[in-house]
Amino acid sequence: MVNTMTLATPENTGLNVKTSVNPLIGDVCGDDVTLHPGDTSFPVIHTENLNLWFGEAHILQNICMAIRKNRVTALIGPSGCGKSTLLRCFNRMNDLIDHTKITGEVTYDRENIYAPGTDVVLLRKKIGMVFQKPNPFPKSIYENVAYGPRVHGIRERCELDRIVEKSLRDAALWEEVRDRLSQSAMGLSGGQQQRLCIARTLAVGPEVILMDEPCSALDPIATAKIENLIEGLKQRYTVIIVTHNMQQAARVSDDTGFMYLGKLIEFGATNQIFEHPGEELTENYITGRFG
Ligand SMILES: Nc1ncnc2c1ncn2[C@@H]1O[C@H](COP(=O)(O)OP(=O)(O)OP(=O)(O)O)[C@@H](O)[C@H]1O
Ligand SMILES: [Mg+2]
Repeated sequence: MVNTMTLATPENTGLNVKTSVNPLIGDVCGDDVTLHPGDTSFPVIHTENLNLWFGEAHILQNICMAIRKNRVTALIGPSGCGKSTLLRCFNRMNDLIDHTKITGEVTYDRENIYAPGTDVVLLRKKIGMVFQKPNPFPKSIYENVAYGPRVHGIRERCELDRIVEKSLRDAALWEEVRDRLSQSAMGLSGGQQQRLCIARTLAVGPEVILMDEPCSALDPIATAKIENLIEGLKQRYTVIIVTHNMQQAARVSDDTGFMYLGKLIEFGATNQIFEHPGEELTENYITGRFG
């Protein structure tokens, strides 16, 4: 198995650098990120001219964006435009895919996460992921949540109990499962399983939660529960969510990035993107003219 992961500067690659100025956050392709006056948040994740290839296919092209701390950022765009691939760049999940090449920079708390020597296990503890389809382990509800803390060395039963309860409470599932913690997670409904997966992610103490279409397999009631949960999560976490549902992006997110054919066409405050998009492509997509 050959997994080619290289990191280069834009100068080395000779690629054109897209310069974009985000009115909300400032010049995200410049030397540094300048915050919007009065905005107390700061970019927790920052990409600079990020390019990604799977083999010969140039999947992500010159992506420049700044993800604000304790905000919800939505990534929208037609199928195949690179949303999931971009999301996976943030915790190096693309490393697991053969023949991946990355150039440019992704920083988390100002550290380049693709620098040699990066502790990828620690990175994925800090930047957790929830997938489209709920994927609980075939174990008890308790063991699903306790699994991550155990892997990270927590052994004391009372500490595990505390983490399991807190994570389930934070995932708005505790009241529904408190009396059946030892029962199989496979017996939960789809919406409950997805909240269990969120609890499992929270249990290892992340700072950022990546969600790839977390509601696409859920009914409207379960979806509403997850959306309410996301609203609460941003008090303590930074959330990046991929969604095909425009209403959902408008409801839950503070910032939105619109992607098309591997490029980040527009990125800014959600109300601005939805009410006054700066690009015709964005407008065509959000008004349903294609996609
Ligand atoms: N493991 C892989 N190997 C090769 N190509 C891949 C791989 N995963 C994704 N791709 C390609 O990369 C491009 C972007 O895929 P990605 O899954 O990021 O799109 P997406 O915007 O998330 O789409 P969707 O909305 O359908 O989930 C697509 O052309 C896809 O075929
Ligand atoms: Mg996807």
